[in-house]
Amino acid sequence: MPADLEVLAEHTLRANWRSGTRRDGTPYGYTCPAPRRYKHQWHWDSCFTAIAWVRIEPARAREELRTVLRGGRPDGFLPHTAFWGAPPRWRRAPLYATASAWGATATESIGPPLLAFAWERVARASTDDPAFAAEGLAALAAHHEWLERQRGNGSGLLSILLPDESGLDDSPKYDPVYGRYAHHRPGYARLVERCRRLGWDSRAYLREHDEQVQDVLVNVACALSLRALGRLSGDGGWARRAERIEAALLERCYDVKTGLFFDVGGRRGARVRVSTWSALAPLALGAAIPEPIRHRLVEEHLLHPRRYGARFGIPSVSMEEPAFRPGFDRFRTWRGPSWINTAWLLVPAVETLGYVDEARRITRSLVDAVRREGLREYYDPHTGRGHGARGFGWSALIADLAVKRV
Ligand code: GLC
Repeated sequence: MPADLEVLAEHTLRANWRSGTRRDGTPYGYTCPAPRRYKHQWHWDSCFTAIAWVRIEPARAREELRTVLRGGRPDGFLPHTAFWGAPPRWRRAPLYATASAWGATATESIGPPLLAFAWERVARASTDDPAFAAEGLAALAAHHEWLERQRGNGSGLLSILLPDESGLDDSPKYDPVYGRYAHHRPGYARLVERCRRLGWDSRAYLREHDEQVQDVLVNVACALSLRALGRLSGDGGWARRAERIEAALLERCYDVKTGLFFDVGGRRGARVRVSTWSALAPLALGAAIPEPIRHRLVEEHLLHPRRYGARFGIPSVSMEEPAFRPGFDRFRTWRGPSWINTAWLLVPAVETLGYVDEARRITRSLVDAVRREGLREYYDPHTGRGHGARGFGWSALIADLAVKRV
């Protein structure tokens, strides 16, 4: 394990740690994604940073995940973003997906549901707190019930209402479905307003509006969590729910012609044929996806020199896509650069399939970029140059990724 990466990860996580008590008396402790740019708690960021904390101080990892639950509601809803220390500033506030423009303590939107997946990882490392594994079971179960009730759409897959609910805010895969309502366009504010008018009733939204997506990444995250919940609780019912999602991904999203998993978008559910890393994400489901399909994802896409086989990391969009942009764009994310969480999720899956040297090469390329540029939000896949926020929390996962690979 390269000691310098461990030091960098620890330094960043400690610098980004925020703790205190909210005005209503609720205590919190979480890693903000980046001190200046992202001050609040983001659901999937916390899942990743908790996993990164495990190597350093498991008690912080547990506190981070407990705080995710404290930000939710008794009915099982967990927000995409929770505002603990201070609400968003007046200029940003109307753009958050909240119940009203001012005064909210959290968004009404969801994030990729990775909490049970992270909970299991943290529980495994919690030899000093063996009760942690069972502590979250009821709340995690309620969360998955909420997701199925509010976002299930009969096909076995969950739907998102807003593009940023997948964490992939401006990904070009949303352009055809959201059009002028896309995250980076002015119409996004109207999309949020529309949800507010419906009182954030997801079922009503899904009945009335075409701008909705059965998102591959969100469903992969959900299946990973359901499997983890099954192992944590010993209840086989959760694994069966995961199987339903996996079967639906294969049936509805898998495109035999290209060998990719595409989102199903709009009310009529057409496949959105844009190649982004989320089309490769089912690799993370391992044996739940037939091996020949996983080999195709790796050989025809992930390692393909014109698609995702870049010099640095795994690009967030296929380099062949017309929308691919490798560098920085002030208002757009996930349109080309390589992110550390992507590699952290996919590299072990590539390795398991036998591509050991390639897994090491991808890891080393990101280690080189991090050593040169620090923990940035994302990296140019051609040059390794760091972009976006500095001191970015989940990029600390590089230390975990590098274990035994560098
Ligand atoms: C950006 C990213 C999103 C992340 C958030 C906080 O919006 O697109 O995935 O959760 O920042 O880091």
